[in-house]
Amino acid sequence: MKKITEYSQGDDNKKLRKILGQFATGVAIVTTFGQDEKPCGITINSLTSVSLDPPLLLFCLSKSSGTLNAFKANSYFAINILDGEQKSISKDFARPNFDKFSNVDWDISQHKCPILYGNIATIECKKTNEFDGGDHIIILGEIINASGHESHDPLIYHNGAYKKIHI
Ligand SMILES: Cc1cc2nc3c(=O)[nH]c(=O)nc-3n(C[C@H](O)[C@H](O)[C@H](O)COP(=O)(O)O)c2cc1C
Repeated sequence: MKKITEYSQGDDNKKLRKILGQFATGVAIVTTFGQDEKPCGITINSLTSVSLDPPLLLFCLSKSSGTLNAFKANSYFAINILDGEQKSISKDFARPNFDKFSNVDWDISQHKCPILYGNIATIECKKTNEFDGGDHIIILGEIINASGHESHDPLIYHNGAYKKIHI
């Protein structure tokens, strides 16, 4: 079967993005507080479960993100896994230079991370390491506490578009 998009090293990376976009993922918002005491967060789909013993996860953060300094400075962060109904919140948190917390209710967790109402799971982490990952940094965190719903449908991202699935 002929593939529609093909990529070789050195080609336009838009093609690569399209091919990697075939990997369907959930969507999460990772949050922390900035040094100015303002809540801060970013939409991600690079969340990966790494280890259960000890409990570790990672996400990749663009070096050009406006949130980079906050995540570098703060030892704690929270992962908010989004519900299928939270597409507009995902879009808000993917907008640079935007008051991202203006359209969502939120609370503060035990280790002082913003927690978004309506998410399907909350995972609070202590940052244990940062690695260089090209134009991103890879942030590894140990899970301190987590809670989740069992019966909610997640928001999905695939091929550059949001989708909902009914599980
Ligand atoms: C579905 C989706 C997934 C994304 N995943 C990531 C990611 O894993 N890492 C990242 O750095 N940016 C990711 N982005 C892009 C950022 O959300 C966006 O560039 C960022 O929020 C810009 O605002 P900032 O400069 O305040 O961070 C994603 C965007 C979308 C829509």
